[in-house]
Amino acid sequence: MLIKLLLFVLCAVFVLKGVESAELQQRAVDINDFRKLALERHNYHRRRHGCADLILNDTISAHAQDWANQISLGEGLPHRPNNPYGENLFAAWASWTDYDITGDVAVNSWYSEIHKYVFGEATPHNFNDVGHFTQLIWKNSKQLGVGKVAKNGKVWVVANYDPPGNYGGEYVENVPKPL
Ligand SMILES: *[C@@H]1O[C@H](CO)[C@@H](O)[C@H](O)[C@H]1NC(C)=O
Repeated sequence: MLIKLLLFVLCAVFVLKGVESAELQQRAVDINDFRKLALERHNYHRRRHGCADLILNDTISAHAQDWANQISLGEGLPHRPNNPYGENLFAAWASWTDYDITGDVAVNSWYSEIHKYVFGEATPHNFNDVGHFTQLIWKNSKQLGVGKVAKNGKVWVVANYDPPGNYGGEYVENVPKPL
């Protein structure tokens, strides 16, 4: 059972340098608006694959927010150790201090990994390139928690999923092709 529970988690780091970016956000983004849009964007992508909507769960969002707070104090983009949930991470930064993003930005960047995903593999041969996408779509995940910190020109996003996805050997049934 423990072997089957081998859970993959991934990080994505994006650097924004130009001020032309469509993702430029001049005003602070309210966390409730952020969560709502992140949820909607998850479900928009999941429906394309025939997967049921996720539900936002406040307990899981508090868990995600706690980790966003913690990683915003340190270096890099480490995953939470011993996490009972699946986890997607995202960080981005810009050269102005009030930089912030809306809730769709991280989700769309995770989804864009679909272009590298080979449907039909029991376990992806290129997991490091596609693991955010597969957790986002993962059919058996039901609930979502979202956390975000925007501070000093940098943004950290944490999404947690319950039940977690990305179980080796279970990709064919959990990551269906687009309809
Ligand atoms: C929200 O998540 C917590 C922790 O996983 C769980 O105990 C609780 O039942 C969930 N709430 C709902 C309404 O499903």
